[in-house]
Amino acid sequence: MPARHIAVIGTGYVGLTTGACLASLGHHVVCADADPHKVGRLRQAQVDILEPGLPELVAEGLDSGRLSFVQDSAGAAADADTVFLCLPTPMGAGGAADLAAVESVAAEIRSVLPEGCAVVNKSTVPVGTAERVAELLGRPDTTVVSNPEFLREGRAVHDFLHPDRIVVGADAPDAAEHVAGLYAALEAPVVLTDTASAELTKYAANFFLAMKLSFANNLATVCERFDADIAAVTVGIGHDPRIGGAFLQPGPGWGGSCLPKDTHALLTVCEQAGVEFPLLRATIETNVEHQRQLVERVAAGCAGPDGSLRGVRLALLGLAFKAGTSDLRDSPALAIARQLRERGAELYAYDPALSDTRPDLSDLLTLVDDPAQAAAGAAGCVVLTEWPQFHDLDWNAIARQLHRPIVYDFRNFLDPGRLAEAGLAWQGIGRTLSMTG
Ligand code: UGA
Repeated sequence: MPARHIAVIGTGYVGLTTGACLASLGHHVVCADADPHKVGRLRQAQVDILEPGLPELVAEGLDSGRLSFVQDSAGAAADADTVFLCLPTPMGAGGAADLAAVESVAAEIRSVLPEGCAVVNKSTVPVGTAERVAELLGRPDTTVVSNPEFLREGRAVHDFLHPDRIVVGADAPDAAEHVAGLYAALEAPVVLTDTASAELTKYAANFFLAMKLSFANNLATVCERFDADIAAVTVGIGHDPRIGGAFLQPGPGWGGSCLPKDTHALLTVCEQAGVEFPLLRATIETNVEHQRQLVERVAAGCAGPDGSLRGVRLALLGLAFKAGTSDLRDSPALAIARQLRERGAELYAYDPALSDTRPDLSDLLTLVDDPAQAAAGAAGCVVLTEWPQFHDLDWNAIARQLHRPIVYDFRNFLDPGRLAEAGLAWQGIGRTLSMTG
């Protein structure tokens, strides 16, 4: 495979992972980011996002001379045969993806792109964006390609280097093969298609995952009603390869920077196109209702003398949207915290990933430095992120601090036996203590 000259515009978790991994595959990669501070730090191999393996890969790329960082996206694009757009596409007004960053970079690079260059949309963008970017570029001698990422935060490097599949959409077969060729060193099925199908594949994947999670969370409620065990039921159905066992772990609702944004964006474009997709709306509504029910459960178990949560102190363990990341974007933990706060609870929270970054959450809760501090005088402990270290907490110390000995394990991952030894009552989702032995 000949080494390519690649520009990656945007060094968020998708862009930086893409750049560093492509450099590790032997390509020459220039990553551009408008933030001078970030570029300065990346030149020193200082990676500010929590992504296992990424700092090492960035350092290796810098040492090899195949990876560099600049501020000027036009300068990076001018020498590239492939330009990856890895830009934020936040949820805009009305739920649609906001494409302002993609549009502004397209304007910056349009006049400098070398003839024959492939401009690749890597960010998740609505169907039709490749066509829109082609219009904005106004460069018929270049091709816009859709090559969506399927990277999970916290596993992005692993997912990039061991993909389940590589999807490349282009309306010119040469360009699709050129982009697929960048990944030739990786063993994965390649799906070559048109741009609209590639763009829709990404939304369909995230929606399907969200649907599976809403299904599992709803099923957990059904299990509770019929004294069934959600763990047994999901394993039981998961052995059927048509269903699959992954992504069926009940939790405090699904969140993060992608699933909520992408399901809402898909719903919006379907509505705009006049397409009914009731499953999509039900998936989102189920998530909201599931979280409401979990809050209700805590309120019922921890209420003060007046029957409400007003002034009741609660300990929250975990705020990140999942373990392995410090990302709080659309975190289900924060959604639940907000509802508890609205009911008047005083929240004390600990998350191992936030000890250094210490985000300002003061209007919602008090961030503390260890779990026992969060538990001091609390009427209950709510576990919201499945940090492995919570398994080995000193639960005796937590029990001594708690005013009422109850732990809501909204990730169903703690060992109820250990909690019981410490004198703590365990409450999971969709299963009872007797089912956990
Ligand atoms: C998600 C997708 O999994 C990736 O394939 C996709 O590339 C990425 O979005 C993206 O669009 O960039 P990510 O946002 O990192 O990845 O998070 P997930 O690992 O999918 O978790 C999403 C949410 O579902 C989290 O809140 C997690 O805790 C929850 N979850 C996941 C469960 O509650 N149960 C499970 O069994 C799995």
